[in-house]
Amino acid sequence: MAPTIEDVTGGNKLDDLLLKDFTSMFRSGYVRAGKGSGSQKGFILPAYYKKFAERISKMEVREDDVWVVSYPKTGTTWSQEMVWLIANELNFDEAKSVILPERFPFLEHSPLFCYDEFLKERPDFPLPDFVRDSVKYVDEFKTQRFIKTHLPWPLLPDQIHTKKPKVIYVARNPKDTCVSYFHHCQLMEGYNGSFQDFCELFLGDNLNFSPFWEHVKSFWDHRDEKNILFLTYEDMKKDLASVIREVVSFLGKEALNPDDMASLCTHLSFESMKNNKSTNYEFAIEVNRAANLIERNGSFLRQGKVGGWKSAMGPELCDKFDQWVEKNQSETGINVWKTI
Ligand code: A3P
Repeated sequence: MAPTIEDVTGGNKLDDLLLKDFTSMFRSGYVRAGKGSGSQKGFILPAYYKKFAERISKMEVREDDVWVVSYPKTGTTWSQEMVWLIANELNFDEAKSVILPERFPFLEHSPLFCYDEFLKERPDFPLPDFVRDSVKYVDEFKTQRFIKTHLPWPLLPDQIHTKKPKVIYVARNPKDTCVSYFHHCQLMEGYNGSFQDFCELFLGDNLNFSPFWEHVKSFWDHRDEKNILFLTYEDMKKDLASVIREVVSFLGKEALNPDDMASLCTHLSFESMKNNKSTNYEFAIEVNRAANLIERNGSFLRQGKVGGWKSAMGPELCDKFDQWVEKNQSETGINVWKTI
């Protein structure tokens, strides 16, 4: 079923902020997209999504696909690297020599960023295929596919529900997610507004892939299905080895021996992934630099902490978040972040 899509046209405070504060040349407006009765307001997506919505809905899903799905900044990259290595017999050599987005493509990279203007100015820029048309890249992938997406359950391809590939959802507490998303949008998406405005957009469900709670709930409600695994960033931080064992069993792999487990945990450590060109998105930051989008320094792997929000939010903002979290936890039944 094709999603219903409406342009975000402005005329209220939050829509105006969204349209004004993101000044990336890779972005040209936003839509709200929903499908069936699952979404009340629709999910915010870039306007380019209109060109890809039908192709994504109708794309072929394969039974042996492995999908990692998340709201942005919740530990997607970390989970992808873990999943890929477990599924590929801990092939560290390939993991280090082929960058993550090439072996584990981001389905809606092209709907998220349009490079047409940039390529007019820089026709020789070596933009990789998984960026030029990410949906085609995924469609034509020759070997078993590992697919990253931030699309919520209602906007996943229709065949997800019939082919039932393995889907791993990763969630992170909303305060750390919001702070991480703010820095990410400054670094990668041309966000020029204040942190205060960004939090308003986050709490007002008016950022790409929002509403946050609706996103998480759309997978939470399916967490007991055989082909779905629901993980949290906080569990990965608390006890990575336990989460690895869960994923090993979910993917039907042999248990890891202690040496392999130790090597995998070391490879997946924050420092190691931050210094690994395969996982630190240096190539994407380079594109943004080439487009003069970045004036500040920053890295994709920024802090990697639980509770880092404490140094970013004052008491008033924290109160606002707490009330919002409490209301939504009780309405959705999502009880993974009892204290954040
Ligand atoms: P911070 O900005 O809080 O540091 P995503 O991959 O979904 O975009 O999520 C990015 C967040 O996950 C960033 O959070 C990043 O630092 C963190 N992250 C990535 N790899 C990590 C790792 N190996 N250990 C801990 N956190 C990691």
